Amino acid sequence: MSAALTNIRAADDAAIANAARILRDGGLVAFPTETVYGLGADATNDRAVATIFAAKERPRFNPLIVHVPDVAAAERLIAFTPAARRLAERFWPGALTLVLPRQPDAKLSLLVSAGLDTVAVRVPSESVAQKLIAAAGVAIAAPSANASGEVSPTTAEHVRQSLRDKVDLILDGGPTRLGLESTVIGFENGKPVILRPGSIARATIEAVTGPLAQATDDKIASPGQLASHYAPDAKIHLNAMAAGPSEVLLAFGPATGATRNLSPSGDLEEAAANLFAMLRELDAMEPRAIAVMPIPDHGLGEAINDRLRRAAAPRGLRG
Ligand code: TXA
Ligand code: MG
Repeated sequence: MSAALTNIRAADDAAIANAARILRDGGLVAFPTETVYGLGADATNDRAVATIFAAKERPRFNPLIVHVPDVAAAERLIAFTPAARRLAERFWPGALTLVLPRQPDAKLSLLVSAGLDTVAVRVPSESVAQKLIAAAGVAIAAPSANASGEVSPTTAEHVRQSLRDKVDLILDGGPTRLGLESTVIGFENGKPVILRPGSIARATIEAVTGPLAQATDDKIASPGQLASHYAPDAKIHLNAMAAGPSEVLLAFGPATGATRNLSPSGDLEEAAANLFAMLRELDAMEPRAIAVMPIPDHGLGEAINDRLRRAAAPRGLRG
């Protein structure tokens, strides 16, 4: 119990150096990125990567994102196309994940791909993440640092509540700036498709790629993207205008009777940053249900509504 309470460290240089040692020794380190906290392991070490799945109790078939320092490091792991290179140049470092064919000689555990012949790679912009990757000297495989089926953590305390002593060290870099996972882009017949909406809005990506196609191959589009992946314990009522009896209200825009408000001014970026923390706070009140006001579907609203639909999906679909 006491170990569980003491494994959070402010992310100063000494703690980052210690974290890098733990990673090189095959341990698990939770660290902040600009999106959400990640649960990191040495991506070249099969045993360490297996530990991630065990800690999250995650279904094996869900592949992991590999975090690297720069485009050059990514090129050693995955085979870029010209379109992918344009996206990397525009959005890295940042909240974009690219899924591309694995290089034959990629120095990476096969487990990160969970049986696929592709790898998801991203270059995070957050300085703690950058320093940790540099200090570790290896690529870091990291899913969001929550137990499978829970909303992603946006603070070190969320990580502690979810994973306790299953993680060797939690680097505390404060609340994450964006609060929503990266946008995952894959390629079908060379054409970019959104595999998971996220912190970079569709229109921002389409400004580089032109109109994005709908992903058609379900196996590629959503390996392990269970319908209710982001579910809190409370039931969720979408598109509510007010809270019903024994319900709490998660508002958006000007509202009366809100228990929490994602953004009183109706700012979608503010709403994205608040979403997971507020869902946790409301869930902890143990209401009969969380009523959620409608969120417009443009910009970051697409990713916010994706997460809310998953949170509202019936329990039976949960992994
Ligand atoms: O912002 C983020 O993306 C965070 C931070 C820590 O980087 N990470 C994150 O990882 O959200 P995770 O494991 O919770 O979600 C990874 C997503 C999943 O939807 C997974 O199916 C998809 O990326 N993915 C990973 N590898 C893939 C692959 N080879 N092909 C298709 N999808 C893949
Ligand atoms: Mg996740």
